[in-house]
Order: sequence, then C-alpha cells, then structure tokens
Amino acid sequence: MTNAATEDIITNKTAPIRSLDDIQKPIASELETFKVHFRKYLDTDVFLLNQIIRYLMRMKGKQMRPILVLLSAKICGGISDRSYVAATMIELLHTATLIHDDVVDEADQRRGFLSVNKVWKNKASVLFGDFLLAKGLLVAVDSDEFELLKVLSTAVKRMSEGELRQLKASKLQNMTEDKYYQIITEKTASLLVACCECGAISASADESVRERIRGIGHHIGIAFQIRDDLLDYSQRKTGKTSGNDILERKITLPFIAALANASLIEQRKMRWMYRKKGKNSQQVGYIRNFVFEKGGIEYATRKMEEHAGKALILLNEFPESEIRDVFSEFIRFVIYRKK
Ligand code: IPE
Ligand code: IPE
Ligand code: MG
Ligand code: MG
Repeated sequence: MTNAATEDIITNKTAPIRSLDDIQKPIASELETFKVHFRKYLDTDVFLLNQIIRYLMRMKGKQMRPILVLLSAKICGGISDRSYVAATMIELLHTATLIHDDVVDEADQRRGFLSVNKVWKNKASVLFGDFLLAKGLLVAVDSDEFELLKVLSTAVKRMSEGELRQLKASKLQNMTEDKYYQIITEKTASLLVACCECGAISASADESVRERIRGIGHHIGIAFQIRDDLLDYSQRKTGKTSGNDILERKITLPFIAALANASLIEQRKMRWMYRKKGKNSQQVGYIRNFVFEKGGIEYATRKMEEHAGKALILLNEFPESEIRDVFSEFIRFVIYRKK
C-alpha cells in the first residue's frame, strides 16, 4: 500500500465530519461560562506558576472533556451550576495528567507547542502537575461537591494505575490485546466515564440513566485512545511528535494487531526492534511500514469503530432530540479527528 493510501485510512478523508466548532454551537454559551470558571481557578501569586499558566492558556486543548460533561448533563435533563464545577475540575485534572504523562513519555511537544517538561524540565513539570491536580480536587471541595469529588478521585486513581501498568508492560514487552484494553480503560476511558457520570449527576439523573451514560463514556474512551494511538502512526501534524509511541517503546493496538499477522520469525525480529532504545528515524519508519503492511492500522480502525458503534447504540436509548444528534456527531468526531 502507498504511504498516501495508508494516511487516508488514518485520517479518513472520505467521511465528512462536523468540526468541533460546529458541534459546540448548541452549548456555546455554556462553554464560555466554563472557560471563565476554568481561568478563575488558575489564579495564583507564585511567579513560576503564573509563568507556566500563561503558557498553558496559549496552548489550548480541544476541551473535549468539558464538552462531554455539558452534553451529558444536557441529555440527562439540563446543565446546572454543578455541571460547571464538574467540567472545571475535569479539565484541570486532565491537564495535570497530561503534564505528568509528558514527563513519563519524554514528549517534546504538546498541542503544537513545546511541552512543559521541554521548556521547564521535569522537576518543575512534576510539581506543576501536582499543583493542577490539587486545584482540580479543590474545585469540588470549595463547592461542597463530595459526590463529584468521589467519582473524580476514583477516576484519577484508575488513570495512575493504567499509566503504571503501561510502564511495566512496556518494560517487560509482554503486551497482549486484552492487556491493552485494560490499560486504556484505566488510563483514558475512566476519565471519560467520569465526564459522563458527573454530567448526569449534575442533572440529577437516576441510576439507570447514569449506568447507560457511563457505558457511553466507556466506549467513547476506548475509541478515543485507539484514535490517539492511530494518530501516532500518522505523519501529519497533530501537535504531538509523530511516532513517539514507537520511540518510547509503548506497544499499542496497531502494533499488537500487526504482530498477530506476522510469522514467528518476523514477530521475534519486530519485537526485538521495538524494544531497542534510541531508534533512529529509519528504524521508526521500518516499524511503521511493518504495521501498515500487516494490517495493524485497519484492525485498530475496525476496533475503534466497533466501540464508537456501541456508544451510539446506547445513546439511541435516549429519546430523539437535537442534543442526541449533537452527541452522536461528537462520537463521530472522536474517531475521525485529525489531532
Ligand atoms: C490526550 O487527550 C490524552 C489522551 C488521553 C489521548 P486530548 O487529545 O483530549 O488532549 P487535548 O486536551 O485536546 O490536548
Ligand atoms: C494517554 O496516553 C495519557 C493519559 C491518559 C494521561 P498517551 O500517552 O498516548 O497520550 P498522549 O499521546 O501523550 O497525549
Ligand atoms: Mg503520552
Ligand atoms: Mg498518544
């Protein structure tokens, strides 16, 4: 397969998707309110913190988690003050975990900028991540929101477990497809489940609705991380260093699937190559080609679409409405996004 054709699979140029700006329209004013809350919570009088915060404000992310909180609240009955508490908390916690994750992954780029660890080094990044984590939890404490606090502390705990499990699996190189799903359920889907659940809580939804929306969050989360892992194989601009997972020896679904289609000899060779520290761009390219040629991209894409499909089936249990349509566009965005 040509490089251009494989890129098309990853970026799926043929499927028209609505932009995130479009998807946000029905909740645009609520999202503005969220942004005000978020900025307010970042105030501090420590000079170094302020310097990093100012930098952070420029490197705005997609804010998919606050959007998911607001969409979930809306589909479960309506956005309330509690929805903003949840959205603010979650975006702070998410940002904290990204800053820690970039230290762990030795990543140089984030959101199209140099990563915080690249500019301020690891020590300041770890401390700054801690600061954001504490701030995130305080948002709930300050508003006496112990139910939200419980849901989110549990999610953050599971995220750390997932990251640690991944670290160990990368070292031992004993990754399997099942273990991969376990890891991404913990490190990524748990927070998206929490987005949906907190949205539902803030709309006072009953337990059966909460259960359904948690399921939606889970499948979105799995699809979201598979998409992220696929984008790592793309050579287009995503705002992060392409191929960093290969460089950092992080085994993800496209590689697992490609191995399953390779002969035993090939498997041994590719595992050995993957394990190598300090790969040059030619070696990264070799692994990338192997994954493309052995159908790793197609397989991961199929699995991602399956999970998005499961999320859509659960979503369709809600009565038809404009917000349900927007929610399904959001799910499509998750799997065909280009960054
Ligand atoms: C990146 O999340 C971390 C993953 C779980 C893959 P996002 O892609 O939502 O990051 P930002 O906030 O938009 O930068
Ligand atoms: C997700 O995994 C990290 C977190 C859940 C914090 P990745 O390591 O793949 O995320 P990126 O690619 O650095 O954003
Ligand atoms: Mg990372
Ligand atoms: Mg990644």
